[in-house]
Amino acid sequence: MVALDADGALLGFAAGWTDTVLTGGETAFELAELVVVPGQQGRGIGRGLHDALLAAVKPGPSLLMTLDVPELTDRYARWGWTVADRRRPGKEERDYVVMRREH
Ligand SMILES: CC(C)(COP(=O)(O)OP(=O)(O)OC[C@H]1O[C@@H](n2cnc3c(N)ncnc32)[C@H](O)[C@@H]1OP(=O)(O)O)[C@@H](O)C(=O)NCCC(=O)NCCS
Repeated sequence: MVALDADGALLGFAAGWTDTVLTGGETAFELAELVVVPGQQGRGIGRGLHDALLAAVKPGPSLLMTLDVPELTDRYARWGWTVADRRRPGKEERDYVVMRREH
């Protein structure tokens, strides 16, 4: 899912896929990328991309994994996600959180 301005310039994008990686068994949509170009943040574009992508996928659970920092997790909590798990994958030195949303 991409957001473009009237001239076709990229404002942001959201991407994901369906797999079992984050759940360990249950098939779920994984929100893998959500990025808005720095000069365009805070105008509702990110929320719009998020909502449009989730509305376009089959109803069911969605998961995402992000750094366990409040700047990221608090926003997703406001957008309807809840913490499902905390992980430190591979050789990472930082904690990550898996969040889940039903839709
Ligand atoms: C995280 C990111 C995708 C959010 O995108 P964004 O376009 O800045 O987000 P939005 O503008 O939709 O939402 C930010 C806030 O602005 C507010 N806002 C400001 N103007 C708004 C408008 N016109 N319409 C709707 N919301 C608006 C929203 O209420 C929202 O508040 P909330 O966090 O309480 O929901 C973006 O900041 C980004 O790309 N960051 C760097 C990459 C990153 O961290 N990605 C996530 C990794 S997990």
